[in-house]
Amino acid sequence: MDIKGITALVTGGGSGLGAATSRHLAALGAKVGVLDFNAEGAAAVAEEIGGIALYVNVSDEDQVEAAFEKFADWAGSMPRVAVNCAGVGTAARVVNRDGKLAIDAFRRTIEVNLIGSYIVLSNAVRGMAALDPLGADGERGVVINTSSVAYQDGQLGQAAYAASKGGIASLSLPVARETARSGIRVMAIAPGLFATAMAAGLPEEVQRGIEANIPFPPRFGDAEDYALLVEQIIRNKMLNGSVIRLDGAVRLPPR
Ligand SMILES: NC(=O)c1ccc[n+]([C@@H]2O[C@H](COP(=O)([O-])OP(=O)(O)OC[C@H]3O[C@@H](n4cnc5c(N)ncnc54)[C@H](O)[C@@H]3O)[C@@H](O)[C@H]2O)c1
Repeated sequence: MDIKGITALVTGGGSGLGAATSRHLAALGAKVGVLDFNAEGAAAVAEEIGGIALYVNVSDEDQVEAAFEKFADWAGSMPRVAVNCAGVGTAARVVNRDGKLAIDAFRRTIEVNLIGSYIVLSNAVRGMAALDPLGADGERGVVINTSSVAYQDGQLGQAAYAASKGGIASLSLPVARETARSGIRVMAIAPGLFATAMAAGLPEEVQRGIEANIPFPPRFGDAEDYALLVEQIIRNKMLNGSVIRLDGAVRLPPR
């Protein structure tokens, strides 16, 4: 799909991978909705790129539905591209050293990362299905979700995070199969460690432990590297129903 002039909505667009993606797509000529519950971050990015800021909690169905309507009023159509970057990192043992359980943390993580992505994806594919098809293949849109390499090699303490990202990875294929007749693709990107606020929140020894295990390039990813893959997924119609690891060949160590 050509990016110039298309409508795109990016969740978590106020920071990190989502902010870089919002900037990148806007620079390529897209009309971008910057959706985030961090009002300050979303407003700053939207202002910089001439987009619209949407202050929304992705786990709230009503707020997300209203944000899609608001976006369509502003952009003149529902988004052709939806990129799900909103997410939270959590670290908790299943049973901590005092014998306490981490069920609340597990529930909250699934609620934002998995259910939030699913709510946005649901609104996105419904809106895209009503758009005119483009080009000879009749493509209508593409949804790109953000998993994590933790979906395959989750570290100690990442049960909730890895499970949320595994859910995201697993839904690419069944949803792509469902939306194929509407010409809508569904993909997931599984990043390794990227230099954003989320990665900076990890304990220093965990950051260094992961960094030491990145074969090449031996550094954290830049958010722009993620945005470049988003661009390629939008442009390349054969990418559908799968998950791409974007990780410099890292395999996370056990802890
Ligand atoms: N940075 C990494 O190393 C890395 C690695 C693998 C996967 N990821 C995933 O990439 C995505 C983006 O992360 P990032 O590194 O850019 O982090 P970040 O903290 O810089 O950005 C995440 C954004 O999501 C927003 N957000 C969180 N919960 C929300 C909610 N309920 N509703 C709306 N907005 C919400 C935050 O306000 C923030 O602006 C996340 O899903 C994360 O799990 C990041």
